[in-house]
Amino acid sequence: MVHGSEVITIERFIMEQERLYPEATGELSNLLYDVCLAAKIISRHVRRAGLTDILGAAGAVNVSGDLQQKLDLFANETVRNSVHHTGRVCVTASEEDQVPMPVPPGKPAGKYVVLYDPLDGSTNIDVNVSIGTIFSIHKRVTKRSSPAGLADCLQAGKKQVAAGYILYGSSTMLVYTTGQGVHGFTLDPTIGEFLLSHPNITTPPVGKYYSVNESNWNRWTPPVQRVVGAFKNGEGKVQPKNARYIGSLVADFHRNLISGGIFLYPADTNHPQGKLRLLYEAGPLAFVVEQAGGRATDGCRSILDIVPADLHQHTPLVIGSKDDVAYAARVLSAEAVPVK
Ligand code: AHG
Ligand code: MN
Ligand code: MN
Repeated sequence: MVHGSEVITIERFIMEQERLYPEATGELSNLLYDVCLAAKIISRHVRRAGLTDILGAAGAVNVSGDLQQKLDLFANETVRNSVHHTGRVCVTASEEDQVPMPVPPGKPAGKYVVLYDPLDGSTNIDVNVSIGTIFSIHKRVTKRSSPAGLADCLQAGKKQVAAGYILYGSSTMLVYTTGQGVHGFTLDPTIGEFLLSHPNITTPPVGKYYSVNESNWNRWTPPVQRVVGAFKNGEGKVQPKNARYIGSLVADFHRNLISGGIFLYPADTNHPQGKLRLLYEAGPLAFVVEQAGGRATDGCRSILDIVPADLHQHTPLVIGSKDDVAYAARVLSAEAVPVK
């Protein structure tokens, strides 16, 4: 998109951001370009999914028990192949890989760690509903002399150096932060470039929408039912909101980020630790939303403060407009009830 009268590609924008840091080596900038390349390749396949043999299940389940779709696996390989050989990364970890994937011996290992959900919203692939990719970038914490691995992946979200997502929606957008605000780029497929379309995204303190899978109502604790009921019908100072739920976290999150809203995936009796993953979904989106003026909690605690104990750790997630997240935290902290 032409922002004002200037056409600013993501490469140029990243370079200008890098100039703000004279000590920057350019490695993070180049890693972000690598993620862009992966995004373009995945977008090309998503846009033609109905015409090529990339729809449907791949016939296996991942470590979280989710049925893997062909596009899950394609996207998983594409991200890994776009970053692994560059010398900028030492290890990657994905929702679709059982264990961390260190850069193979003999290949140059860099200082960055990439954690990612290669394809978010997989159940929506075959019905042509928006899906996404989510990524989180950390610096390695182990010594370069030893192989990178799990310790480099299990870092609190507040240690992230960059995070973002690609939304394969009515257009393909890439939204990211490196801690200097949140910026959105729209892919112009006619020139194969992501162009700056949404500089300095901020999210309203009170949301228009609430997004939750209400079919879980009977599996929630009473405090969670009270919070969702307040967003639905109003309570005290909380005004009723419009319900919007796409079932792809990235799509629900992005709509709420732009328009103001709150997304909830609380713990329930089917998912006592919550359904979403801390490292690949909650953590990166928490970094983005906080940089846009929003908040993200597990209902009570800030997502960015949680130190992961397990690579595929699940967490309840309440994320979006800060006043709405704060209301939920007040109720859920005061009336904390364990999910039985
Ligand atoms: P993924 O496809 O990466 O497993 O993510 C699916 C997630 C998330 O995108 C979405 O918000 C949630 O699952 C929807 O879950 P329900 O269908 O249980 O509402
Ligand atoms: Mn996901
Ligand atoms: Mn996924």
